[in-house]
Amino acid sequence: MASDDEFYADIRSADGTYKFLVDGAWRESSSGRTCGSVAPADANAPAYAFQACTPGEVDEAFAAARAAHRQWARTPLHERAALLHEVAAEMRARRAPMAACLVREIAKPAKDANTEVVRSADLIDYAAEEGVRALGVGTLLHADSFPGAARDKLCLASKVPLGVVLCIPPFNYPVNLAVSKIAPALIAGNAVVIKPPTQGCVAGLHMAQCFRAALEKCGAPAGLVNVVTGAGAEIGDYMTSHPSVNLVSFTGGDTGLSVAKKANMVPTQMELGGKDACLVLPDADVALAASAVVKGGFSYSGQRCTAVKLVLAFPEVADELVELVCAKIEALRVGRPEEDADITALVSKRSADFVQGLVEDAVAKGASLKQPWRREDNLVWPTLVDHVTSDMRLAWEEPFGPVVPVVRVTSEAEALRFVNESKYGLQGCVFTRDVDAAIRVADLMETGTVQVNGPPARGPDHFPFQGVRDSGIGSQGIINSIETMTKTKSVVINLAKPSYALA
Ligand code: G3H
Repeated sequence: MASDDEFYADIRSADGTYKFLVDGAWRESSSGRTCGSVAPADANAPAYAFQACTPGEVDEAFAAARAAHRQWARTPLHERAALLHEVAAEMRARRAPMAACLVREIAKPAKDANTEVVRSADLIDYAAEEGVRALGVGTLLHADSFPGAARDKLCLASKVPLGVVLCIPPFNYPVNLAVSKIAPALIAGNAVVIKPPTQGCVAGLHMAQCFRAALEKCGAPAGLVNVVTGAGAEIGDYMTSHPSVNLVSFTGGDTGLSVAKKANMVPTQMELGGKDACLVLPDADVALAASAVVKGGFSYSGQRCTAVKLVLAFPEVADELVELVCAKIEALRVGRPEEDADITALVSKRSADFVQGLVEDAVAKGASLKQPWRREDNLVWPTLVDHVTSDMRLAWEEPFGPVVPVVRVTSEAEALRFVNESKYGLQGCVFTRDVDAAIRVADLMETGTVQVNGPPARGPDHFPFQGVRDSGIGSQGIINSIETMTKTKSVVINLAKPSYALA
């Protein structure tokens, strides 16, 4: 077996610059220019350089995808599944360098970086299995169930691929939220063009090499998986409005709102921001809620769309909850991603500045910090901000950092106003021992998902995952994505005589 260095050798030029992938070939851009990512944990020192692709190269990627899709759509479903299982095996075998990129480029703690790759391989395997079952069946309709129609037509309805899916994953899961788009797309018979985020780009290129190697091994069309790199400001609009795109699948921040508007009359699948609230009712298991606030609010330093971004606590439990959360914050390790610290540097100085601005606004308006404010470069120490009120930005904006606001509420109606008047509506959670209260609050929370007695989370990855309002369009989860990435095709057989007449 080739070493990891040999396996990944093609993706880099001799000078260490990373290439882009079109039609199975790793190439340097004709622009002669590169873009760079930085190392957030090292005072934003340069991390990696990769190609600044041109619009012409974007065209080539889409042309390769279009041609590959035509062939792939006619490839037996079990062969498509076999390809995905091969990719999953490559990802597991080649995960170490990919995980190392996640540590360097996005300061993901080492253990979480490894988990992201393994979770991605599991997702790919699951998509293959789900696709074989779901896409292997269609629907047969007889005409005579409609009033006035005779039994003289048969409709055979089946699911066929859309064509080319543009996959745009975010910096916080550049591998996992890429494969959550690519795997359903491929099993359904589509081809993909991927535009990786700047931070996390090189982890994405390593992932793409696992796909490329598996495509070659399985004799699948090389152009099924293409990766175009560059600054979103330069080629982003060109890609999202490209005439060859049949679906844009995007995960990220508010940029998604303009992506959805610019998409060229094609469907979009969008997972955007969140302001996931945690309601802690008077009868809650407070220790359980405290664990959820800390896990939900501070894992990956709060840089998850599903992070707990607002705690809404009733007076009966608020003091105890705050005390328990503070004790757990005390135990969090702040430091370097390689050393698997719990809290690591935020992805950019701009993100850390933004978080600081939210905290300063809250403090100026009367909120109290339960830990002394501390920040070094991008590294922000975990902070619980108590007594937040509705006039503070922290009550409404998403920090995407290790800062969790607590609002003390006195009624469910008041709590639900914070949830339902938010521009976001991704997930929410409620802690209570009363099943009636749990169902009532879940019914009234206007979010894509409500977790009862647990923190918000996307996984397991086969669960439906969706946001309302500015949190997204469409539903993800493996089967949901497979459905989104297909369309219905009908073949109607007109019988010479109504079949009942033959009897
Ligand atoms: O950041 C957005 C992700 O979809 C959140 O996924 O809940 O598995 O961290 P997660």
